[in-house]
Amino acid sequence: MRIRGVGRDDVGEADRLRRVAFGRVAEPSSRPGVRGLLAELGGRAAGVLTIKEFHQFWGGATVPMGGVGGVAVDPWARGRGVAGALLDAALRDMREHGQALSALYATVPAVYRSRGWERAGVFEWLEFPLDRMPAGARVEARPAVEGDLSALHACYADLASTVNGLLDRSAPAIDVSGVLDLDVVSVVPGHDGGVRGYLTAERGPRGLRVFDLVGRDVTTQLGLLRELGSWAGVLDRALVRVVDPAVTGLLTNQAIEHTVTTSAWLLRVVDLPAAVAARGWPAARWLRSAAVDLDVVDEHAPWHAGRWRLVVEDGEVRVEPGGGGAVRLHARALGPWFSGMQDSHALRRAGLLDGDGALLDRLVGAPGVPRLADYF
Ligand SMILES: CC(C)(COP(=O)(O)OP(=O)(O)OC[C@H]1O[C@@H](n2cnc3c(N)ncnc32)[C@H](O)[C@@H]1OP(=O)(O)O)[C@@H](O)C(=O)NCCC(=O)NCCS
Repeated sequence: MRIRGVGRDDVGEADRLRRVAFGRVAEPSSRPGVRGLLAELGGRAAGVLTIKEFHQFWGGATVPMGGVGGVAVDPWARGRGVAGALLDAALRDMREHGQALSALYATVPAVYRSRGWERAGVFEWLEFPLDRMPAGARVEARPAVEGDLSALHACYADLASTVNGLLDRSAPAIDVSGVLDLDVVSVVPGHDGGVRGYLTAERGPRGLRVFDLVGRDVTTQLGLLRELGSWAGVLDRALVRVVDPAVTGLLTNQAIEHTVTTSAWLLRVVDLPAAVAARGWPAARWLRSAAVDLDVVDEHAPWHAGRWRLVVEDGEVRVEPGGGGAVRLHARALGPWFSGMQDSHALRRAGLLDGDGALLDRLVGAPGVPRLADYF
C-alpha cells in the first residue's frame, strides 16, 4: 500500500471515492487550509481522508488541531487496513505540521478508537419552543455588512476563548465571510465600532436554524432572544446551535424535557509535549509546584510513547522526558483527559488509566463539558 498527499490531478478520484462512500461530495478535496491523503492499493486509488487546519481553544489559548474528515475507502478495498493505514499516516502528517491535537466526528467510532481517538466533547442543537422566550428589552440591531466581518469575528472569538473546545474560526480553513450569505445576520453595534452581539440564522422550508446567538452582555443576549421570539406564530420552535452554553443553559426557558441533538466528537492528542505547551492552564495558577510521572502507551504515535514527567511550576505546565511512570495512560485516555470530559476515575474504570490521576483532573478541571459549534 502507498499513501501520498492528494495532488491537483487526484481531486477527481478523491471526489469519486467520497461520492461512492457518502452518496455526495460534501466539499472540495483540495483547498487552502485543507490537506488530503490518498491510499493506493496495486496502483489503484483505494481510500482518502482530509485534514483541516483548525485551532481549538483550550484554557483560553488556541491549540493547532487537525480536523479529520471524509474518510472513505472504496468498497473493494475495505477490511484490508486501508483506513487504519491512512489514519497512521495522518498522525505522522499532523505531527509534522505542528497539529498537536486531532478531532473528528465519527460515524464508525471503532475505526478511530483503534487509533487512539476517543469521545471528548459535544456538538449540540437545541430545539427551542418560541413561546417560552425569556423577558428581555428590544435591542437596536441592523443587518450585517462586509465591514462588520472582523468585529463579528472578534465578538465570536472573545466568547470562544472562554469555552473549551470551540474553534477560533481562523482563515484559511474557515472563511467567515460566508456568514453574509445567510438569511439572517442581525448585528447589535457597540459604541466603539465593535459589535455587542449578533444572531445568524437560515430560514428553510422546515423551520429556522439559528447558528450563532452571541452577546457580550446579558442585555444583548436577551435582546437577540427577543428578536428570535418574533418568529412565534409562523413557527412554534427554532433549532438553536449551542455555541454559548450560557444562553441555552442559563437564559432560555425550555421545560425539563426538551430535545437536544448531540453529535459526539473524538479527540486525539497527537503530540503530548506540544499539546501541553500550547494549551492554557488557568488552574495551574493556584499550584506553586507539583508533578506527576506518566507512562504513555501509544503504539500509533511512538514519538510520545513512554515515560514523561508532567511538571507544574510557577503557573506553567510542561512535560519533560523521564520519571518513574507512576500513572499509565493509554492513547485513548489522552483526548478525554486533555478536554476534561472524563476524570481519572472514569478513565480507570474504562481500563485506560492506572495510578493516581488527581493532579491531572485538577489541572484540566475534569469532568467538564467541552464543546464544538462547527461541524466538519
Ligand atoms: C469505515 C471505513 C472507512 C473503514 O475502512 P477500512 O479500510 O475497511 O477499515 P480498516 O480495514 O483499516 O479497519 C480499521 C479498524 O477499524 C475496524 N473497522 C473497520 N470497519 C468497521 C466497521 N464498519 N465497524 C466496526 N469496526 C470497523 C477494523 O476492525 C479495524 O480495527 P483494528 O485496526 O483494531 O483491526 C470504510 O468501511 C468506509 O469507507 N465506509 C463508508 C464511509 C464511512 O463510513 N466512513 C467513515 C466516516 S467517519
